[in-house]
Amino acid sequence: MNYPFWDVPHIGSGWVIGMIAIFHILVSHFAIGGGFYLVMAEHKVLKSGRADWLAALKGHSKFFLVLTGVYGAVTGVAIWFSIGLANPEGTSTLIHNFVFGWAIEWTFFIIEITAASVYYYTWGRIPDRLHLTIGWIYAISAWLSLVIINGILTFMLTPGSSWLSVAGTGNEASMFWYAFFNPTYWPSLFVRTLICISLAGVWALLTASRLDGYEQPELKTDIIRWSCKWLLPSFILLPFCIMWYLYMVPEARSHLLSLGIGTIGQGIFTQVTRAVLVAVMASATIAVVVYFLAYRSPRSFGFGHAFGVLLLALVATASTEHAREMLRKPYVIADHMFSNGIRKTEVEQFNRDGYLTHSPWATDADRETWAKIDRAGTGVALAADAAPEMYAAQLKRGELMLRGQCLACHTRDAYRPLKKLLAGRDRESVGSILTMLHEYKDDSPYKAYMPPLVGSAAEIGALGDYLTELVKKKEPDSASTADKVALISQP
Ligand code: HEC
Repeated sequence: MNYPFWDVPHIGSGWVIGMIAIFHILVSHFAIGGGFYLVMAEHKVLKSGRADWLAALKGHSKFFLVLTGVYGAVTGVAIWFSIGLANPEGTSTLIHNFVFGWAIEWTFFIIEITAASVYYYTWGRIPDRLHLTIGWIYAISAWLSLVIINGILTFMLTPGSSWLSVAGTGNEASMFWYAFFNPTYWPSLFVRTLICISLAGVWALLTASRLDGYEQPELKTDIIRWSCKWLLPSFILLPFCIMWYLYMVPEARSHLLSLGIGTIGQGIFTQVTRAVLVAVMASATIAVVVYFLAYRSPRSFGFGHAFGVLLLALVATASTEHAREMLRKPYVIADHMFSNGIRKTEVEQFNRDGYLTHSPWATDADRETWAKIDRAGTGVALAADAAPEMYAAQLKRGELMLRGQCLACHTRDAYRPLKKLLAGRDRESVGSILTMLHEYKDDSPYKAYMPPLVGSAAEIGALGDYLTELVKKKEPDSASTADKVALISQP
């Protein structure tokens, strides 16, 4: 744990990323599909000479530019910012492997943003054909940015055996292409491209719904019907592409999904299954709503309906992304780095030398007190007559363990709350869970979703002490060590 830990109370850092990412995905996929929508609509409109449709398209392109160029770009940077804070070790690994990937992506991104602006500001000012060409440059460069980022995103779930064989040796970059075109690269590219196409339709329904169906009945009908068709490819092909994707996910990960289906109602990986089911139901509802409310009666299709479809799309997106995250547990980079930044290859060393031995977050004074506690034997630091500095130092050691190893997935009191998950347990029973996490035997039920607990016996003991206090007392949480002593020594 060389990096500082970003302790987000109640929701945990994962949810900060999640909340930014869900909206970013909805907009960034629209930024790609919407480009194709605009040029294909413009092409169609120019051919048929429909001036009314052209005016509507111009309006849609303004909405498009503002939403994708501002909101999409800002949330994209926010993702970088939050993953860097939440998982510095994982982010650093990605940068070390893929720095050129990102350089390429950003080149496409600059072309994309420039072309989008030029496209919007040159409506009616340059020859139609040239305008259309700029639109195509936009659409293709936007899609190429997906082609690049998809390699990096899929790498985290399926880094592939070639890259894993050199992971941790310093030669990882030699496997750049293997890591990039990893096992789930192609199915994921198809899935995401289909989602881009359907989101283009969903967002277009939003702007089209605002047309007046009584003043411009023909226009509204045509645009809405045409936009509905953008959802068709997904409804036909997406199930197959998702199956292909899951087929390429190694057994060890995808069995979590079937495990969930078999044990619905209990056990952790019903969470994956539940997320998949929600996505399926949301998509089915979109199909029904779009067909009956938009396609069948386009004139009365209102903003509220379109907004409802958008919300359903948000639910479907959020739950598929959540399922993908859960499939990856307990890793951030499958089979290499656990969610808490510990590499598989470091486990032994941490167990031998101690997890906090080289931590810059412990002072020399801390280490001296810890050594004193260890010499005195277990239980001394928390005994009723323990010296306050011993007590505080032991809790600090436990808290450093907790921050470094548990809070990537848990919070103390709200999201996956350790306080509640451990409620009612005494010191001994907390200790036996920690022993299971530490031993990490093959038949351990926790192995499917939690990393091994690493560190020396004394450190694990300190974590046990801290957790027991957490369950017993009112939240020590972010209070400083001095406050903590005061808090806990109150009657
Ligand atoms: C990779 C993510 C991750 C990390 C890191 C992690 N856990 Fe968990 N843990 C989970 C998940 C997921 C569950 C299931 C939660 C649920 O059922 O809602 C869980 C459940 C638990 C439970 C309840 C188990 C039971 O049998 O009911 C305890 C206790 C627990 N974790 C303790 C810890 C401790 C202590 C650490 C740090 C050493 C830790 N976890 C680190 C993901 C993680």
